[in-house]
Amino acid sequence: SLVSLRQVLDHAAEHGYGVPAFNVNNLEQVQAILQAADATSSPVILQASAGARKYAGEQFLKTLIEGAVASYPHLPIVMHQDHGVSPAVCMTAIKMGFTSVMMDGSLLQDGKTPSDYAYNAAVTAEVVRMAHACGVSVEGELGCLGSLETGMGEEEDGVGANRVLSHAEMLTDPQEALAFVKATGVDALAIAIGTSHGAYKFTKPPCGEVLAIDRVRAINAVIPDVHLVMHGSSSVPQELLEEMRKYGGELKPTWGVPVEEIRRAIQYGVRKINIDTDLRLAMTAAIRRHLAMNPADFDPRAYLKPAIVAMREICEARYDAFGAAGMA
Ligand code: G3H
Ligand code: 13P
Ligand code: ZN
Repeated sequence: SLVSLRQVLDHAAEHGYGVPAFNVNNLEQVQAILQAADATSSPVILQASAGARKYAGEQFLKTLIEGAVASYPHLPIVMHQDHGVSPAVCMTAIKMGFTSVMMDGSLLQDGKTPSDYAYNAAVTAEVVRMAHACGVSVEGELGCLGSLETGMGEEEDGVGANRVLSHAEMLTDPQEALAFVKATGVDALAIAIGTSHGAYKFTKPPCGEVLAIDRVRAINAVIPDVHLVMHGSSSVPQELLEEMRKYGGELKPTWGVPVEEIRRAIQYGVRKINIDTDLRLAMTAAIRRHLAMNPADFDPRAYLKPAIVAMREICEARYDAFGAAGMA
């Protein structure tokens, strides 16, 4: 049944596990996630980005998720809006029946220019007021997602300021996090610890210098009761990159967030772990392989089936690794 993010994360905190939040854009992705969750008895967080809503259409996405709820009535399912850029966007999602919204006030409404603390706290508090009145959960974000290797934020030309940022400027500050949570009343807080969205996170296997799991521990020490969220948490498995390249894919050398590091972060209060890129890689590698091996096939179901299987395997592995398996 449809549940709020708060319900799922409270249970995760009580039992010390983390829940992967998977991005969805189409039927096959919803099916892969639900098959994995059903096989492992895991709670489900389906999240839709602005790009997903644009791609599929809000009504289609909503209806797909309702289809998941109807098909798997025994599983708790959160319908979450990923990276809302404004209170208005969040309000639309609430009206549509989403049970959780992210107000990403770490950026201005253009979705790329870093904001200041006052703006972030104000818009996030406004969303919390509206959402809580409707029984909907809110995720906020504090800090600047981006690479600590380069000091660059997520936009290619660097964070709005167009300059290299120090680690102190990028990482979430524990005391500021305390003030932010008090000022806004968010149910979950996304923090910046050196991860970024997409396939190109690190130029070599990341160590503590560029992936600041110690910062998670420091934040957790100050706000132990707050559910923390890690964005940009795909692991970018080397074997998926190799599979992609083997069948014609062109991907530069890159590394993601090791599953072991995420498991450490879960010990320090991370409860929601956002994953999209790994699912994209798994599906696309499977489709490349299928079409290369079966050049006469032209029924989309023929290549989407192995894509669902490949995505499902990643989802199951994450449910297991984060301790969510058996918790539904
Ligand atoms: O927030 C990032 C997610 O990977 C969604 O990506 O905006 O391309 O749908 P998207
Ligand atoms: P990845 O690109 O690492 O999968 O991150 C997804 C994410 O954070 C969605 O909000
Ligand atoms: Zn994200």
